[in-house]
Amino acid sequence: MKYFPMLLFCSSLLLIIVSSTATDTINTTQFVREGDTIVSAGGTYELGFFSPGKSKNRYLGIWYSKISVQTAVWVANRETPLNDSSGVILRLTNQGILVLLNRSGSLIWSSNISTPARNPVAQLLDSGNLVVKEEGDDNLENSLWQSFEHPGDTFMPDMKQGRNRITGMDWYMTSWKSPDDPSRGNITYILVPYGYPEILVMEDSRVKYRSGPWNGMRFSGTPHLRPNPVYTFGFVFNDKEIFYRYHLLNRSKLWRVVASQNGDITNFVWVDKTQSWLLYGTANTDNCERYSLCGANGICSISNSPVCDCLNGFVPKIQKDWDAMDWSSGCVRKIPLNCSGDEFRKLSGAKLPETKTSWFNKSMNLEECKSTCLKNCSCTAYSNLDIRDGGSGCLLWFGDLIDSRIFIENEQDIYIRMAASELDAGDAAKDNAKSNVKRRIMVSTALSTGVLVLIIAVVFYVWKRKQQKNRNISGGLGRSSNYKHKKEALELPLFDFDTMAFATRNFSDENKLGEGGFGLVYKGTLKDGREMAVKRLSKNSRQGLDEFKNEVKNIVKLQHRNLVKLLGCCIEGEEKMLIYEFLPNKSLDFFIFDEAKSLLLDWPQRYHIINGIACGLLYLHQDSRLRVIHRDLKASNVLLDYEMNPKISDFGLARCFGGNETEANTNKVAGTYGYISPEYAKYGLYSLKSDVFSFGVLMLEIVSGYRNRGFCHPDHQLNLLGHAWRLFKEGRHVELVGGLIFETCKLSEVLRSIHIGLLCVQENAKDRPNMSQVVLMLGNEDELPQPKHPGFFTERDLIEASHSLSQNKPCSANGCSFSLLEAR
Ligand SMILES: *[C@@H]1O[C@H](CO)[C@@H](O)[C@H](O)[C@H]1NC(C)=O
Ligand SMILES: *[C@@H]1O[C@H](CO)[C@@H](O)[C@H](O)[C@H]1NC(C)=O
Ligand SMILES: *[C@@H]1O[C@H](CO)[C@@H](O)[C@H](O)[C@H]1NC(C)=O
Ligand SMILES: *[C@@H]1O[C@H](CO)[C@@H](O)[C@H](O)[C@H]1NC(C)=O
Ligand SMILES: *[C@@H]1O[C@H](CO)[C@@H](O)[C@H](O)[C@H]1NC(C)=O
Ligand SMILES: *[C@@H]1O[C@H](CO)[C@@H](O)[C@H](O)[C@H]1NC(C)=O
Ligand SMILES: *[C@@H]1O[C@H](CO)[C@@H](O)[C@H](O)[C@H]1NC(C)=O
Ligand SMILES: *[C@@H]1O[C@H](CO)[C@@H](O)[C@H](O)[C@H]1NC(C)=O
Ligand SMILES: *[C@@H]1O[C@H](CO)[C@@H](O)[C@H](O)[C@H]1NC(C)=O
Repeated sequence: MKYFPMLLFCSSLLLIIVSSTATDTINTTQFVREGDTIVSAGGTYELGFFSPGKSKNRYLGIWYSKISVQTAVWVANRETPLNDSSGVILRLTNQGILVLLNRSGSLIWSSNISTPARNPVAQLLDSGNLVVKEEGDDNLENSLWQSFEHPGDTFMPDMKQGRNRITGMDWYMTSWKSPDDPSRGNITYILVPYGYPEILVMEDSRVKYRSGPWNGMRFSGTPHLRPNPVYTFGFVFNDKEIFYRYHLLNRSKLWRVVASQNGDITNFVWVDKTQSWLLYGTANTDNCERYSLCGANGICSISNSPVCDCLNGFVPKIQKDWDAMDWSSGCVRKIPLNCSGDEFRKLSGAKLPETKTSWFNKSMNLEECKSTCLKNCSCTAYSNLDIRDGGSGCLLWFGDLIDSRIFIENEQDIYIRMAASELDAGDAAKDNAKSNVKRRIMVSTALSTGVLVLIIAVVFYVWKRKQQKNRNISGGLGRSSNYKHKKEALELPLFDFDTMAFATRNFSDENKLGEGGFGLVYKGTLKDGREMAVKRLSKNSRQGLDEFKNEVKNIVKLQHRNLVKLLGCCIEGEEKMLIYEFLPNKSLDFFIFDEAKSLLLDWPQRYHIINGIACGLLYLHQDSRLRVIHRDLKASNVLLDYEMNPKISDFGLARCFGGNETEANTNKVAGTYGYISPEYAKYGLYSLKSDVFSFGVLMLEIVSGYRNRGFCHPDHQLNLLGHAWRLFKEGRHVELVGGLIFETCKLSEVLRSIHIGLLCVQENAKDRPNMSQVVLMLGNEDELPQPKHPGFFTERDLIEASHSLSQNKPCSANGCSFSLLEAR
């Protein structure tokens, strides 16, 4: 609580000093001026004057009072900055209007009320909401004015985002112009009340992102919005209001969602340990989240290359444009609709198309919905409104279907109207459809966190492109006669074959560093002494040259301090090579599984490595525009730099080799025994959660110093996962920790790491946390959920499961970390 002197301000400008007690409230005889603040009862929020960023202007605002980093969550006079706030006061009028007056009594800013108050007070609540109310009436519903109803760029727990349907007032966020200027920027984050409501991110009047309609459980484009132990969320749609909001289960956490200037909706959580805000997820980041990227009747799949396709039964409207990767013209039907004899084709796992012009009825069932759609010739699709309890309600689309994408985790189906003859043709090609389903499953776990969800992922750092550096390195840039275009060279550094052959002494055995998933790796040294790692890809990739180059360009852009940097590539005839930065300290397996070398890694270093890998993986999953699933994360794919910082290698390669995911590609690396998840081994499904599984294995290996595969114990036949799980259940998991680690460790961190590792390796992919949750769990000390039993906790499980998939003999040698499973 803060005590501060209060001044009584009378209209006669007579000042009387009133000794005042600490308070979160001002009444009509008190006011706030420069230097004063009022603090909410629990001490979380503070209201007063401040200057954002480097600005010299003064603003009246609300910020977090307990943290060292000044973070304003609301600004009153965002459009009318004060040059100088001396003599400026905030007071409450007798009618209940908050007014900000300058020294000469001119109005700078005011709140607004519809009915005059009798005995008003203004109170700063512990939710961060500044409320004007009748004294003694604590019911928020009766309040006269709330700052929560006039959001700035920050969406806070318990704030409503939507519309009051009685007054027509919209509650929406607008970005700041810049970190130094809180005036309204051009990004708005708004729930549109037309058709069936959805949340949009707009840049001026252009839609950038769309959440998809609420389906009873979440917005259709936000499959990650799921029940969780941190917050609850809800959508209310009735005659009085439409809104979305979330509510924190533990009030003492500091969370906020911000509409940033670039249009990303970012959410942050405060981490006491580091005294900083963690960027806990950026929604709408991947390419498929770009509104209507694939045009009308197109569909986006983030791990397809290219990402756009037409809906089944449609073809590109302007093929030439599509060939040039401009999909905006969209798709048209192969066979026009015949109003009377049409039928429907089901599409599963989709983010529902735009509902701006949709019609809905909450009480119809799916059959009624279908027949209603059939009756109207311009109706093009239908679906349930609510997917709970087997589905209910009816949502109809008219005309083109805009902005659909594929998500594996969406349970939602939509039925798309087709000419009967198209449907027959489609059925004939059922195989095709099947492979589509498979593709969809494989592909789309790439999931976007939907906007509001926001609350799902953490990133520790700011990503800086180091283009400049890249350019320097491309001193070895080749002039391969095929690829002379300068512009391309800048985007995709190309090295020529002769340079590489020289650097690796003609790919000599002495220069061989190892053998990775996609080919041999050599150490290269350029004439000027620069070192690099050259991966010579095996020649079996079926991918076309353009596709390959496109993917390499994408991977070059993935830059993070916990990823091995790809410097460029070398293409000559059949030969393809990837050029990486060279890391002298070899890979993690070299240290942790070796009795002598493991002494070099004490607990703080291991913990640092665990955190680094988590951040790198999170970046791949969540923050890069590609949403890369690594698919082969393991100790030998984590390299260490001079300072023992971990760097993940071999990421994105599956994409490079991917080509058409629907085709069985016998040369594809699919994972390594001991690290692959049950769903991959059994069904060939990979997703972000398969990487989480591998990460969990890796964590347990780092803590224990044992390989998962090849682990043996006199008492049982379990592998490391089974062993850890067994000890955990008996409360003895501390026994997993090896001697040296034990001496240098912070026990709570070690135990927590084991616990998190076990959460990551749970059998059911849905139970596993995502990487953002993992990073958050590593970053704080909250209670963790109980893990369920791990997948593959005996060696037998794995061998049996993989048998059905692989024609390869399972690797039998202990510690054969290069043994690779081949995809079906
Ligand atoms: C406002 O609050 C102060 C301090 O609590 C009190 O002395 C004063 O009487 C109050 N004024 C009104 C109008 O309630
Ligand atoms: C800001 O204040 C200075 C001096 O107090 C004055 O000269 C200047 O005109 C003011 N600027 C604005 C924009 O009010
Ligand atoms: C108060 O605001 C008015 C209107 O913006 C302005 O004309 C006046 O100069 C300001 N007075 C002071 C003392 O800043
Ligand atoms: C106050 O609200 C009314 C309607 O609710 C609006 O017409 C008026 O312009 C508002 N006044 C201010 C100062 O915002
Ligand atoms: C929106 O504002 C940002 C900077 O704040 C600017 O870069 C961008 O061009 C603006 N967009 C439009 C459509 O004006
Ligand atoms: C809420 O979080 C705080 C700090 O993170 C913690 O001390 C407290 O125990 C938590 N409360 C509950 C009910 O979990
Ligand atoms: C529409 O379909 C019905 C039944 O399949 C067929 O009899 C009719 O000729 C079709 N009409 C057109 C215009 O194609
Ligand atoms: C919604 O559907 C129900 C059940 O079919 C029907 O009784 C009702 O009239 C429909 N409402 C509207 C507005 O069409
Ligand atoms: C079909 O639906 C559209 C959009 O709701 C409506 O404008 C049109 O009148 C309907 N046509 C018929 C024949 O019901």
